[in-house]
Amino acid sequence: SAAEKGGWSSFMAKEVSEEPEAVANTIRGRVHEGRVVIPELDGLDDLFADISRIVILGAGTAAYAGLVGKYAIEQWARIPVEVELAHEFRYRDPLVGPDTLVISISQSGETMDTLMAVKEAARLGARTLSICNTQGATIPRESDAIVYTHAGPEVAVASTKAFVAQITALYLFALHVARVRGTMGADDQAAQIEELSALPDKIRWVLDNEQERIEQLAHWMADTRSVLFLGRHVGYPIALEGALKLKELSYIHAEGFAAGELKHGPIALIEPGQPVFVVVPSPRGAQVLHSKVVSNIEEIRARGARVIAIAEAGDAAVLPSADEVLRIPLAAPLFEPILAVVPLHVFAMGLAEAKGLDVDQPRNLAKSVTVE
Ligand code: G6P
Repeated sequence: SAAEKGGWSSFMAKEVSEEPEAVANTIRGRVHEGRVVIPELDGLDDLFADISRIVILGAGTAAYAGLVGKYAIEQWARIPVEVELAHEFRYRDPLVGPDTLVISISQSGETMDTLMAVKEAARLGARTLSICNTQGATIPRESDAIVYTHAGPEVAVASTKAFVAQITALYLFALHVARVRGTMGADDQAAQIEELSALPDKIRWVLDNEQERIEQLAHWMADTRSVLFLGRHVGYPIALEGALKLKELSYIHAEGFAAGELKHGPIALIEPGQPVFVVVPSPRGAQVLHSKVVSNIEEIRARGARVIAIAEAGDAAVLPSADEVLRIPLAAPLFEPILAVVPLHVFAMGLAEAKGLDVDQPRNLAKSVTVE
């Protein structure tokens, strides 16, 4: 009903507007005196000290959150991480055992593909941790440990605020484990916490300053047949998420690519007028990646692509070759995905609205897929 949507045109519009709170509420109660301490993980220090690898499992948007989390866990906690789609993991006789921590990510906690993969991992002797948004759901009940995301109930079928909360939970987990394993200095830990805690206001900035323009852009692009998304490093999973959300909501063909892969194939798709969203890494802190992505932009622009860059405010290098620049506030490189995804959620929603589609209930999709 309209009341449940709190005055918003759709649950998704409401849920996107709640992305800042989803991050803030997931952090709340888990930072103490400049260190991340997740109370739910109390008593598991020995486990985190002993594991030699992590496997992250999920489906759809949750799996893309896992891909982002890999970068932070490896960088901070120095544990090798693999990310796999739950349904692929389940049926390939996976090599996991007591040295492996399997982290499942699921908003609903009921996705059958993910549940079956977790059960298989447990049967093989792995320890299991559930990152979940729904209290008491089946997957957390079947797991050894739980870190809840506190995004609040998500009603729209396609996931938005749960995604930013999932990345936040993975980052908190990475910082918690880095502290336990002693792989990170206290100053570094404090600096990362400061970055994390600044995200809610920065997401709000994107919504306040860019949402209208992005919706306008989506309206102009309502007849578009195909949209490509490019990203590198942590921007790569964001490109995948941007493409997935556009497919789900607007039924437009969309594909996400690793920017470095462009020359190995996808550049063949570039023809005059082809819209391409490019997630641009920060020119500070990720200079090499930044310049490589800027040259990708130049390459596709030279072939006629219509480039929509998502770039840090003040990044002048993208201006000459981008048709549109959507701004995000300055953040350390690992934190950019949580900001860069916001314009992509707004765009997918805006385009679906422009086409007159039901953004909350896209055709053929279910919020929670409880069959394999
Ligand atoms: C369904 C939904 C997606 C969601 C995926 C995983 O396919 O339509 O939006 O990303 O399931 O859901 P989960 O609840 O496990 O995060």
